[in-house]
Amino acid sequence: MSSVVCEDVIKIYKSGEVTSIALSKLSLYVNEGEFRVIAGPSGSGKTTLLNMIGAIDVPDAGRVIVDGEDITKYDEAKRIEYRRRKVGFVFQFFNLIPYLTALENVEFPMIVIGKPREERRKRALELLRLVGLESKKDNKPNELSGGEQQRVSIAVALANDPPLILADEPTGELDFETSRQIVRLFRDLHKELNKTIIMVTHDFSLAMYADRISILRDGRVIETLSPAEKDLASLLYVPKEDVWESLEARKKSLEEELERLKNDFINGRLSMDELVERYLKIKRELDNIESKLNKMKI
Ligand SMILES: Nc1ncnc2c1ncn2[C@@H]1O[C@H](COP(=O)(O)OP(=O)(O)OP(=O)(O)O)[C@@H](O)[C@H]1O
Ligand SMILES: [Mg+2]
Repeated sequence: MSSVVCEDVIKIYKSGEVTSIALSKLSLYVNEGEFRVIAGPSGSGKTTLLNMIGAIDVPDAGRVIVDGEDITKYDEAKRIEYRRRKVGFVFQFFNLIPYLTALENVEFPMIVIGKPREERRKRALELLRLVGLESKKDNKPNELSGGEQQRVSIAVALANDPPLILADEPTGELDFETSRQIVRLFRDLHKELNKTIIMVTHDFSLAMYADRISILRDGRVIETLSPAEKDLASLLYVPKEDVWESLEARKKSLEEELERLKNDFINGRLSMDELVERYLKIKRELDNIESKLNKMKI
């Protein structure tokens, strides 16, 4: 279990003439053993933040303190050591080596730190069992489904038993049900293996599995929902799937009606006046639905 504190972290990217402030005095406090979700619109700095906490990149100002140590002060050698021992990374695109089997992929990070062969094979098997994939141990990544590949990636991330797991939209490539299974797996790992997990997701219905949710906007945490607030929010958000589905269905039927209207007009079954009147009415409702659907995306 790790605790993570970010204090006034600033990260500025310059490419040519363009300067973007990815993190703008961001502060974040994650307790030992917490499952924290980071949500926020595209470009709000979520990936940059994970890169700072994972020591993949260094901030321009501010401190990132993991288990009491300011990791921004580390030199390159210490950063490499930190990434290997302290952090397990899970990405949207499953980071697996295509010509290795599931088992060999899980063994790989243990080879890097020089774990003896027998020990690492035993642990790799245990981890595959933990993520429910023991029977697929000899399959190569392209012989596995997306959800299975992501479960192997999670086993890879756990290989060296890091106290901190950083996941950047780990369900971005998966359908809803598979996404839910993956997030449940994270929740179980965090409870049973005492891992601190920081997971980026766009999906509020998945965010509900976490202890707390921090919302990023323009490179800052604008809000952190406590467990109680999160539960309250979940009351508002749980029916989201149903609402979403019914809005989508309504949208589809209105689009079909527009199509019929157009054909009726072309075939002379409808006057211009009737067309305009009915068209505008349907269009108004469609715009309304579109805006509701957009607001439901975060
Ligand atoms: N390597 C880079 N070079 C230049 N600009 C960058 C770089 N990485 C990120 N940025 C900029 O920093 C800002 C934050 O980007 P970041 O990738 O952290 O956002 P994000 O919240 O992860 O977005 P998304 O949800 O789309 O993944 C954006 O404006 C982005 O264009
Ligand atoms: Mg990102």
